[in-house]
Amino acid sequence: MRAVLVGPPGAGKGTQAQILASELSIPKVSTGDIFRANVSGGTELGKKAREYMDRGDLVPDEVTNAMVKDRLAQDDAAVGFLLDGFPRNVPQAETLKGMLADLKTHLDVVLELRVDEDEVVKRLSGRRSCPECGRVYHVEYDAPKSEGACDHEGAALYQREDDREETIRHRLKVYREQTAPLVEFYEREGLLATIAATGSVDAVTARAKAAIEEQA
Ligand code: AP5
Ligand code: ZN
Repeated sequence: MRAVLVGPPGAGKGTQAQILASELSIPKVSTGDIFRANVSGGTELGKKAREYMDRGDLVPDEVTNAMVKDRLAQDDAAVGFLLDGFPRNVPQAETLKGMLADLKTHLDVVLELRVDEDEVVKRLSGRRSCPECGRVYHVEYDAPKSEGACDHEGAALYQREDDREETIRHRLKVYREQTAPLVEFYEREGLLATIAATGSVDAVTARAKAAIEEQA
């Protein structure tokens, strides 16, 4: 299974990607997570990406595309993958198509998670993330068992730099202008499945699984 998750910031892509990838036994490839790991590790890639991420802008395509190409060439991605946060504009989608053609393969499904902007702002302002395992929580909707600590290893949860209201609004604008055109792109390719990303996490997972099975 080679699948892509598309949706605005806060739609629940990371939350669903973690669950779906584990159930489908494929790796989750999240460009946001890879960038954040590089930023906190102080790598060259992290230094290039940081200023864009803090502003809520897209990291330049040549940087992002090269990173994804390396990741998809790793052995574990040979069985398939679930991309979360890539592609994020039409040029990245064209590049991905070319990369997969070179590997003699193609995408099976693109799942669009739809949710309105007010809900997104509520979700992102309450989000807390684990620096160790990447698990994402919400102070109200999906709270950890013990306040401020991850359920797995007890690591202290943190709030993302780009989850300030002003930056959230800018990320939504970037989504509307640069990423939303992907929905039409993938519709033309016959790959698009759209679901409502509202309701409980479990309800969204159930819808996602049904839509993936139908489309793929
Ligand atoms: P990235 O990390 O991809 O951020 P994003 O797309 O803005 O998405 P988010 O991670 O904010 O949200 P999500 O949809 O994963 O939601 P989540 O599951 O966490 O990218 C960050 C930055 O990296 C970009 O701005 C850019 O600079 C750079 N970047 C990344 N990819 C790039 C690319 N391809 N090209 C260029 N630059 C790139 O859920 C959100 C919250 O809601 C959580 O608290 C969660 O617990 C809660 N929640 C989830 N589901 C539900 C539910 N059903 N009900 C209630 N609450 C829920
Ligand atoms: Zn953790």
